[in-house]
Amino acid sequence: MPAKKVPLSKAQLEKIIEKYSTPFHIYDEEAIRNNARKLISTFSWAPVFREFFAVKANPNPYILKILKEEGFGTDCSSLPELILSEKAGLSGENIMFSSNDTPAREYKKARQLDAIINIDDISHIPFLEKHTGLPELLCFRYNPGPLRDGNAIIGKPEEAKYGSTREQLFEAYRTVRDRGVKRFGLHTMIASNELDPHYFVDTAKMLFDLVIEISKSLDIRFDFINIGGGVGIPYKPEQEPVDLNIISYGIRKAYDTTIRAHGLHPLSLYMETGRMITGPFGYLVTSVLHKKDTYKKYIGLDACMANLMRPAVYGAYHHITVMGKEDDPPDHIYDVTGSLCENNDKFAIDRKLPEIDIGDTLVIHDTGAHGHAMGFNYNGKLRSAELLLKTDGEVELIRRAETVDDYFTTLDFSRL
Ligand SMILES: Cc1ncc(COP(=O)(O)O)c(C=O)c1O
Repeated sequence: MPAKKVPLSKAQLEKIIEKYSTPFHIYDEEAIRNNARKLISTFSWAPVFREFFAVKANPNPYILKILKEEGFGTDCSSLPELILSEKAGLSGENIMFSSNDTPAREYKKARQLDAIINIDDISHIPFLEKHTGLPELLCFRYNPGPLRDGNAIIGKPEEAKYGSTREQLFEAYRTVRDRGVKRFGLHTMIASNELDPHYFVDTAKMLFDLVIEISKSLDIRFDFINIGGGVGIPYKPEQEPVDLNIISYGIRKAYDTTIRAHGLHPLSLYMETGRMITGPFGYLVTSVLHKKDTYKKYIGLDACMANLMRPAVYGAYHHITVMGKEDDPPDHIYDVTGSLCENNDKFAIDRKLPEIDIGDTLVIHDTGAHGHAMGFNYNGKLRSAELLLKTDGEVELIRRAETVDDYFTTLDFSRL
């Protein structure tokens, strides 16, 4: 079973905690860079391969800048995410704007940045045309509905609010072709935290087949397909990471037998994963405030579900390391909780851990994606700081912790 390791010793972490109090998320820059390089090299056979990091997974501009330096673009779905990408130095076709139910101001910002616009629904064509005019390049999001099995987490495609039907796609590309659009892309996103590499091969095959059909039927040429995000990560110690070589090999084979065979080479291959890129390289560091012994044994932390809501909302497993007790026997059973007034504010339920004492430092693993990003302020809880463990071993504060004044900033107490 691969052990889950923290990239810092207890002593190193204690020094960091002296300067930045817990809780905080810390991201491992070197591991993120190595992971980004691995992804790009795995797909080096593709005419053009590009990963558009899903900003929603970790909307910190310092992380986006690191990924930009590694050759990634960004995938945005809101105005602030577009602005974050701009601040990180991204523009043009390095940004993909995959929104839904989109306000006009968001399309305007995306057009101002010359981002690739990925249209969710056919009714957005006249909406976009009215507010910004149509760009030279347009992409549409496909929802295969009953033609494709649902991924366990995201559910059945036909139940999803996203994307257009197969029939609508033909109409959409015909409409924009007749209105002067010259370049085309095809996108889908139908999986979440999927650990089966073959799922992504099948997704690429589905898009390749559709590209062939639409190209032939409408006499247009596609620049790219985007197979979306959703590549899973091994949250549990007994799980294995997705083998990217299987995805790459399978897609390459399909590319040769479909796209090349139909004279549609070159076609760029895009992905927009988030979780797989930063998820395993983020850690929520938190201290034990209280121990409670009633019908169960509780460990009370200074972090709560406002800092990481996946366990509470999805029942998701996040591994926990008790610093300095890595080799102690896990012979105690605890519920590890936060202080929010919701009984699901638990990072772990009935978890076997070594004996925990007040003051111990706990590290909650795999918080680098959809972790801090999903934070919220319910119950007057404040979001934590984000730190970067840099490649030279130094630690940089890349987002300060929220203060009570931040929480009150939208209130005007003077009129009470
Ligand atoms: C359109 C879109 N692209 C990409 C992603 C990233 O997914 P993941 O972080 O699971 O790779 C999401 C996640 O919700 C999404 O909605």
